[in-house]
Order: sequence, then structure tokens, then C-alpha cells
Amino acid sequence: MSASTRATPPITLSRRIAETWRYALCRLRGQNYLRYQQQRYDRLWRDDPHHFSYSSRQFQLDYCLGHGLRRGMRLLDFGCGPVAAGLAMIRYLDPGGYVGADISRTALNLGTDRIAAAELAARRPDLVLLPATEWLAPLARRSFDMIWAQSVLTHMAPKDTETLISAVPHMLTPTGCLLATFYLHDTPGPRRADIKDWSYDLATLAHYAEAAGLQASLLDDFRHPRPYVRHGHHMAMLHLSTGRSHCVTKARPASGPTDTAPKGA
Ligand SMILES: C[S@@+](CC[C@H](N)C(=O)[O-])C[C@H]1O[C@@H](n2cnc3c(N)ncnc32)[C@H](O)[C@@H]1O
Repeated sequence: MSASTRATPPITLSRRIAETWRYALCRLRGQNYLRYQQQRYDRLWRDDPHHFSYSSRQFQLDYCLGHGLRRGMRLLDFGCGPVAAGLAMIRYLDPGGYVGADISRTALNLGTDRIAAAELAARRPDLVLLPATEWLAPLARRSFDMIWAQSVLTHMAPKDTETLISAVPHMLTPTGCLLATFYLHDTPGPRRADIKDWSYDLATLAHYAEAAGLQASLLDDFRHPRPYVRHGHHMAMLHLSTGRSHCVTKARPASGPTDTAPKGA
């Protein structure tokens, strides 16, 4: 592991037991994985409204700008949370250009308060609550130049990731693209860790993309300001496009090697 790479502490045994128990309860009630994550994030932000806001999220806007985001575009901040990064995006984009979507009502309520406190309501940001069933329905018939998803696939089960990717062509303009971070591993197939976290190999994501008529690639230039490793996997950047994307300056084809991890990881 490089000196600048920090491993996130493993989840404690007591937290693991608590998460396993909560997930088991969801299953007993017939609730799906999305509902489990919805309850988890609602709880997380009720307990700590500033979670994810202690460090600057400006890097997310900067990365989007480096990959073609422009003022007049429409951006979907998928899994926006309480708009910790969204505030800078709303400030940058033309009025009506920002749409944030999330499964957590608590996060969106906090986001609405933050937008008001930052006096950004006049820029007409739209915060969309995604339900646990027919989850992407509120985004149907909407079209975006860029879809941004920071630290969301990392909490999405393969079935949901596949559903999202299959919906992407309907949510993008012909020249649009999706940029999404995920935890990358090299062995075949998705992998689950600690109930709440998932990692993917590029081939699986490329397979979902191909089925949706999209092209998948890894972008080498993404560095999270807190470069961390979770469950031994590094955060990587997935780029999906219809092949006519205006978004990207540098992309590595999905058939290429998958080791974006820093040397020694
Ligand atoms: C780790 S937080 C990241 C929040 C924000 N993107 C940021 O970087 O500050 C993950 C967010 O994704 C949301 N989320 C998790 N699974 C989701 C899903 N399947 N669809 C939409 N949002 C989801 C959570 O509610 C949470 O707000």
C-alpha cells in the first residue's frame, strides 16, 4: 500500500453483528436490499447530520468539470446524500441544471435545509426521493448530460447495479455519460463485504453495460482526496457512454488491464 493510501478501519465486530441483524430483520419482513440501505442511511443521518460533510466535496465538481461538465448542462447527482457535493454543483450550474436523487428521505430533507441556508433555492435544484420499490421510476423520462455517482455503487447489490446500468441509456442525452466510483477487484464476479459494501470487477460492469448498449471504461485519473482502501479494494472510476459521449478526455477501454490501484496495494 502506498504511503498516501489509507486503509479504512475494518468494521467492528459489534457493528457487523448489528448490521447483520438489521438486514436479517428486513429480510424477515420481506423487504429488499434497497429498503435495508434506505433505513441504514436514514439512521446514519439522523444520528449525525454532518456525516460526509466534514471534508470538502469540491473535488466531485472539479472532476466533473475536468470531464466535460459545463454550466448549461443537466447533471444528475445520483445518491446525492444531503448535497454535501451538490451545493458546489448547484452554485456552478445554470438554474434548473442540478437534480439530486437518493433513497434516503432524511438525507434529502437535510439537503433541502442546506440549500435554503446557502441561499441557493433560486437556482431551482430538484431533489428526488427514490422509493425502495420501482426504485428508478421517479427518474423515468428525464434526460441528463452527465450522471455522477460518488460512493453509491459501493453500496449497491449486483441486481440493483445491473438495473441502474440498464436504465442509463434512457436517462442520458445522446452525448451524455455516467461517471461512478466503485470498489474494484480483479477476480471474476461481484463481491459483498460487511452486508453494506460491494466491490466489482470491471468485466461484470462491462457485461451489464454491453447488455444495455453502452460502452464501459475505467478512468485512470480519479483520485479520491482521502485515498482509501476498503476490504483491500481501491476506489476506481467507471465511465459509461453510448460511444458518442462528449464527457471524457481520457478513458481506458474495458478490455484493458483493470489495475487502477496504486502500486503496492
Ligand atoms: C456514501 S453516501 C455518498 C453521498 C454523496 N454521493 C457524497 O459523496 O457525499 C451514499 C449515498 O448513496 C445513497 N444510496 C445508496 N444506495 C442507493 C441506491 N440504490 N440508489 C440511490 N441512492 C443510493 C445513500 O442513501 C447515500 O446517500
